[in-house]
Amino acid sequence: MLFSFKSLSRAMVLLPLVVGNMQGIQTRDNTIERRLADPVIAINPTAANFGMSAVAPGRFVTSADGTKIFAEARGDPSNPAIVFIHGFGIGAMAFNDIFNDPLWLNRVYLVRYDTRGHGRSDKPTNAAAWVSQRLAQDFDAVVQSYNLIKPFVLGWSFGAAHIADILSFHHPSYISGAIYDAGVPYLAALPNVGSPAGFTVVPGLNQTTNVTQFQTSYIDFINLCHPALEWNFYLGCLGDGMVQPRAVLDLSFTRTQNSTGLLQAGTSGALPLLAIFGGNDKVVLKQGILNAIAGWQNLTVVTLLGAEHFTWISRPVLFRATVLNWIGA
Ligand SMILES: *[C@@H]1O[C@H](CO)[C@@H](O)[C@H](O)[C@H]1NC(C)=O
Ligand SMILES: *[C@@H]1O[C@H](CO)[C@@H](O)[C@H](O)[C@H]1NC(C)=O
Ligand SMILES: *[C@@H]1O[C@H](CO)[C@@H](O)[C@H](O)[C@H]1NC(C)=O
Ligand SMILES: *[C@@H]1O[C@H](CO)[C@@H](O)[C@H](O)[C@H]1NC(C)=O
Repeated sequence: MLFSFKSLSRAMVLLPLVVGNMQGIQTRDNTIERRLADPVIAINPTAANFGMSAVAPGRFVTSADGTKIFAEARGDPSNPAIVFIHGFGIGAMAFNDIFNDPLWLNRVYLVRYDTRGHGRSDKPTNAAAWVSQRLAQDFDAVVQSYNLIKPFVLGWSFGAAHIADILSFHHPSYISGAIYDAGVPYLAALPNVGSPAGFTVVPGLNQTTNVTQFQTSYIDFINLCHPALEWNFYLGCLGDGMVQPRAVLDLSFTRTQNSTGLLQAGTSGALPLLAIFGGNDKVVLKQGILNAIAGWQNLTVVTLLGAEHFTWISRPVLFRATVLNWIGA
């Protein structure tokens, strides 16, 4: 090799800072959409970790049981912090459009991580690694690493259930508020919250004997989340499915949780909740979610007209305004 990774990352740092660059993107249904181009974010090369992108900040944090969790923060740490927790199968890259958006970056300290079993994080396949407290500890490790004080937590889809894990081991005042984006409140609610179409793809995803069935089911799943994603992003979503051991999928579905802490936080009025729904979501059922959190005191419900399960990709401006207004950023 003529140059090392280190010299490459130094060279990348010299690239100009490009923020808010719009570009026309051809989606898979052949329409052209105006989307934000990825900004190039300068980083200190000495802080760069081997194996991470030279242009994206990020770090591995160590959870209490030793599991390495890939986390990333962008924006101004003096702004209110939101920790984004992704859903089933697709890692923290799901939030790229938000993390690349200067209008978010100006107002919020954006934090995300690959939950265990996803993306760049470790993918343990022993049941002990999937007890509720381990998932709460992953969140704790991220909070500690970035010195977050009372962050908001946004859980997308299956990822919202992590908030139930967190509140089994912490007082509600540990966080400022919860945001469910098409969120599954806790695992026991899943049978009433998942759509029939969503459940149709699951058997093809956790079986380990038919490659064709796995491939078609995962493509079907991504299409259910949004039928017209930008091509590279679509490939990223498929790639996150590819790096996940099938055993992780079963463990993440069959693990047990105690929803008492979550529901007490809600019914006592201690925890404000913003519940966002996509009007055209094909993965979760709005009424099932609202039934699962019946009696929540401080609840704001917003439905984004026509939005798919990837709500913020369908309705980026409305989604951003809804969240920023609610947190008061
Ligand atoms: C797939 O997941 C479902 C639901 O958790 C479970 O009933 C089924 O046994 C799993 N299939 C395999 C092959 O693991
Ligand atoms: C594998 O799955 C595909 C697609 O679901 C199906 O058409 C095919 O019959 C399956 N093959 C076997 C051997 O079960
Ligand atoms: C769930 O947590 C509550 C306290 O938050 C506790 O009283 C209850 O026994 C727990 N349930 C189970 C099944 O562990
Ligand atoms: C709901 O929570 C917000 C944010 O903490 C607070 O400003 C508001 O007063 C609360 N509303 C009620 C009705 O308690």
